[in-house]
Amino acid sequence: MIGNFTYCNPTKLYFGRDALEGLKAELPKYGKNVLLVYGGGSIKKNGVYEKVVAALKESGKEICEDGGVTPNPSYEKLCDGIARARAAKADLILAVGGGSVCDYAKAVSVSVHCGEDVWEKYFIRFEEPDCAIVPVGCVLTMVGTGSEMNGGSVITNHAQKLKIGHVFGENVFPKFSVLDPEFTFTVPKYQMISGIYDIMSHILEQYFSGTDDNTSDYIAEGLLRSLIHSAGIAAENPLDYEARSNIMWTATWALNTLIAKGKTTDWMVHMLGQAVAAHTDATHGMTLSAVSMPYYRFLLPYGTAKFARYAVNVWNVDPAGKTQTETAQEGLRRMEAWMKELGLVMNITELGATREMLDGIVKSTLIMDGGYKVLDEKDIRAILSESF
Ligand code: NZQ
Ligand code: ZN
Repeated sequence: MIGNFTYCNPTKLYFGRDALEGLKAELPKYGKNVLLVYGGGSIKKNGVYEKVVAALKESGKEICEDGGVTPNPSYEKLCDGIARARAAKADLILAVGGGSVCDYAKAVSVSVHCGEDVWEKYFIRFEEPDCAIVPVGCVLTMVGTGSEMNGGSVITNHAQKLKIGHVFGENVFPKFSVLDPEFTFTVPKYQMISGIYDIMSHILEQYFSGTDDNTSDYIAEGLLRSLIHSAGIAAENPLDYEARSNIMWTATWALNTLIAKGKTTDWMVHMLGQAVAAHTDATHGMTLSAVSMPYYRFLLPYGTAKFARYAVNVWNVDPAGKTQTETAQEGLRRMEAWMKELGLVMNITELGATREMLDGIVKSTLIMDGGYKVLDEKDIRAILSESF
């Protein structure tokens, strides 16, 4: 392992059927005023809202509600949340929902005491907070993003047609997260599958970089094997606790900074997907699945050895009698077949993207430089053109 790094993950996790007990244990550590953040109402239908509110009341908290956070949370809503948190003098921001709610809570947390234009500061200039940060806790209801144990916060600015993620430092990670797999049982199948692919993409974005012998890659391969195994079971029976709990745990490890250690990491699937979402507002994981195959086929010649290793160690391709390229290509074929079987969206047309949008999507794609090839505008256009 060649890269140098520091590692610290300060998020305390409570996992399993009794995980909500963890919330009760955590609440006394924080002041009285709680900003309760949630999405479009799923938590009111599945009973999670009542359980959380009961725990808050038991702890004697003053609750200020901040519902209506949409998938792909917007800058406009962020401004509303900042105003609410200020008015409530929030001591704790409790996010109850999926990645969108958690990401939004983090964005509010670094903005409440910030006197600057927060979009410019955090999402354009990528500065770190230099003000007090309101602590965030999370009760996760949808699996995929890893937001429950990382510093990521992705916000969409519709006016600027930009969807940008800032990966904040450890001081912005949730202080604690409650992970009860049963809270995710009511997630619609489309969202569940989208989350499964989001997990896979997070692992691959980190795996497809570097040529050194890196422990992180061996962990990544184990996570991928577990994910593929459990995804098949969950797709058949979404109420299989064992499979859903494994997927939940894999999601957390896929993006809690561990498997990025010692690696440059790629992230171009996410940059392409986020650009598509900036123009369509489509579901995150599906934007990734829709661009992945054209991207990986483009990338394969630049990282053939790693793609061949992926084929053998993750997709059980027998390399005997094959060239490295043939092995690598067979791995991608098996991955594509698995994606189709799972029901993932395989093109951006299905997500509402049109050829007329192509110039705009190309323009909205940020370029990262950690993967096997630094893309230029021509490459991005070619990959996106293959994605319709
Ligand atoms: O809003 P409600 O009514 O709660 O419905 C949500 C939403 O419509 C629903 N849902 C969530 N839990 C449910 C449920 N429905 C029924 N039962 C439940 N238990 O699912 C829908 C999607 O929720 P959302 O939070 O948007 O999904 P996800 O967790 O995939 O989050 C996506 C956001 O996270 C960002 C994405 O870009 C996107 O904005 N990401 C954050 C990352 C991070 N923090 O590191 C990394 C990721 O790559 C990703 O970019
Ligand atoms: Zn993602």
